Amino acid sequence: MTKETLKFPKGFLWGAATSAYQVEGGNKNDWSEWEKKNAERLAKEAKMKWAKWQQKKFPEMFDPKNYISGRACDHYNRYEEDFDIAKSLGLNAFRISIEWSRIEPEEGKFDEKEIERYRKVLEAIRVRGMEPFVTLWHWTNPIWLAQMGGIECKKFPYYFTRYSSRIVEEYNDLVSFWITLNEPTSIIGASYLVGQWLPQKRSISTGLKIYKILSEAHRETYDAIHKISKSAQVGFSNILRYQEPHDKKSLLDRLATKISIYFTNKKFLGLTGNKNDFLSVQFYFHDLVKISLRFIRKRTFIEVPKKEDESTTDLGWEIYPEGIYHLLISQKKFGLPIYILENGLADAEDKKRGKFIKDHLYWIHKAIQEGVGVRGYFHWSLLDNFEWDKGFWPRFGLVEMNYKTMERKIRSSAWEYAKICKENKLVVE
Ligand code: BGC
Repeated sequence: MTKETLKFPKGFLWGAATSAYQVEGGNKNDWSEWEKKNAERLAKEAKMKWAKWQQKKFPEMFDPKNYISGRACDHYNRYEEDFDIAKSLGLNAFRISIEWSRIEPEEGKFDEKEIERYRKVLEAIRVRGMEPFVTLWHWTNPIWLAQMGGIECKKFPYYFTRYSSRIVEEYNDLVSFWITLNEPTSIIGASYLVGQWLPQKRSISTGLKIYKILSEAHRETYDAIHKISKSAQVGFSNILRYQEPHDKKSLLDRLATKISIYFTNKKFLGLTGNKNDFLSVQFYFHDLVKISLRFIRKRTFIEVPKKEDESTTDLGWEIYPEGIYHLLISQKKFGLPIYILENGLADAEDKKRGKFIKDHLYWIHKAIQEGVGVRGYFHWSLLDNFEWDKGFWPRFGLVEMNYKTMERKIRSSAWEYAKICKENKLVVE
């Protein structure tokens, strides 16, 4: 068989991504409160939510403890060990998020100790030769803000900009890349359309309001950051779903696809106007869009495959590497640098991750060849971590976590990824 070597552009950033709440442990915010109230319910609902093969493979989904983030990966105390691992894998970039509730535990009062601690975290990334990408908001809110309505609060943009300005003033010397908000449309969909995540409201009108509030927060923060630093690179992390009609011949499915693509991939970006120095693609989903009874009941057009085979992850999500290529091509017209800030899969046995990474990189490379300005790839995630309302059972890490001993074990797919990162090239057969 002939081998082909696909070289990536010089200076390409190879990274992994994490978020504070999912790995740090010991957080107290609106999610940690929600989790406590909902753990029992989530454990009970597992039986109807997940397919038989998933229930058999991950019996911990029936245990309420699975849904309590608790110590998570104790990354709060072990970040140096984790960045050592990242370095050993040859990564030259790393994405973290700052936990707002630690920085501003009470409205207007900033915690100097926590500010100092994140400085150490950022220095620890830099010292290991990695470029830090910093997310300012990865879905969690301080309790005081949640009491005012969280992202529904009209003053959210004001509070967020004030907190972000403080952060950027503090770490401007260490950080060039700022991600204001993580995947606004995921939280709008999960919280306000489907009604699964806090505050579990099924309200389309509120969801539409949140588009406005969050995009205003992004725009104001963009300006505030540029006042502090002219050279900062500011963007938000955007989930892009590759969507096609379930039945290509059905007019209704085609229409539903158009509507879904608009709200999922386009609307928020449009609302941010020209206030982006880079774009991002976070890719997990290939959706076959259909108007069905499920849509009416669950408020989602999307059919998620539930079977277990080569083409699905432990969460039953379809693996469809080609999707990332089409999405990247769709972003080419904006002419901005693009970072893939998340892409990954739940694969506890690590049977699919190596191939998953290579196949996605193959399509990313093809997009680059066709003129798309992709500058970096961040795998989600470095460590297995706390997967929101699903808890600990989905395993997204390049590194396996033993949550009892906190031992980290580098998975073999991580070494496959490391080879690509170190050589800045992918060899395909
Ligand atoms: C989120 C992560 C999450 C990952 C896997 C992304 O949408 O930003 O927080 O863990 O998907 O579901």
